[in-house]
Amino acid sequence: MSKLQGRVGLLTGVATGIGRMGAQVFAREGAQLVLLDINAEEGEKTRELASSQGADVVFVHGDVSKSADVKRAVRAAVDTFGKLDLVWSNAGIGVFKTVPDTEDEELDRIIEVNLKGGFLVCKHAIPEIAKAGGGTIVLTGSINSFHAAPQWAAYCATKGGVLMLAKAMAIDHAAQNIRVNCVCPGSVDTKLQEDWLRFRESGMTYEEAVRADQASHLLDRYATPEEVSKAALFLSCDDSSFTTGSALMVDGGLSS
Ligand SMILES: NC(=O)c1ccc[n+]([C@@H]2O[C@H](COP(=O)([O-])OP(=O)(O)OC[C@H]3O[C@@H](n4cnc5c(N)ncnc54)[C@H](O)[C@@H]3O)[C@@H](O)[C@H]2O)c1
Repeated sequence: MSKLQGRVGLLTGVATGIGRMGAQVFAREGAQLVLLDINAEEGEKTRELASSQGADVVFVHGDVSKSADVKRAVRAAVDTFGKLDLVWSNAGIGVFKTVPDTEDEELDRIIEVNLKGGFLVCKHAIPEIAKAGGGTIVLTGSINSFHAAPQWAAYCATKGGVLMLAKAMAIDHAAQNIRVNCVCPGSVDTKLQEDWLRFRESGMTYEEAVRADQASHLLDRYATPEEVSKAALFLSCDDSSFTTGSALMVDGGLSS
């Protein structure tokens, strides 16, 4: 039996990277999906990839920081599939700067997407998940929910906030049979990671910076988007039935 058979899920941040693979992994496990992303062209391609796993998949073009867009995505799940059982709030952006170098607009935007976005997705999804009799929420945190990194200040602040948001919701919604957890990747081979290494001033070439970054993980490499997606799958299915308010590190031992 597939792990998400009969479940309806909303995934955000699906156009590229971890979320694009996540949509395919969740589809493969039998979920019907609504996918929300700000990038319409790549998001539509992800919808096709996930559909090719045999799942019913709807793509909604929208911005997680806008309540109206998030509401449309939740409504799409209920109108199309009749209910909502699970959320993986994964959309995120980076700002590769120290605090003094970060412009006010950059700070506002990263908080809007990384923190307010996850908050809004949960705000609008929780009443529907409760109506379905309970379910799961996964938020993509980061190694940076626990440990800071250079020229990544605003990002680290938002990811620390995402972890506390998950824990607070785990407390508030346990009685509604809703489990809430964070998946916390170390470095994953995506554009976001590449941009951070390219734009921060490390004194290394890009290739040297990649090698040093990989070597900082005990397993001496990056995670693949599929490895992160499988951890989110674990937190979204009954295999993790006694897990809530937790952070699952997918960091190759970086935090050890
Ligand atoms: N790559 C890593 O090493 C790493 C490590 C730890 C955590 N993460 C987290 O994983 C998540 C996915 O990142 P990724 O590495 O796959 O990067 P990515 O840039 O490939 O994916 C981010 C996705 O979010 C979408 N998005 C951005 N702003 C949005 C908005 N306002 N509304 C809706 N969608 C929006 C993008 O279009 C894209 O599809 C992020 O939350 C990121 O912080 C990544």
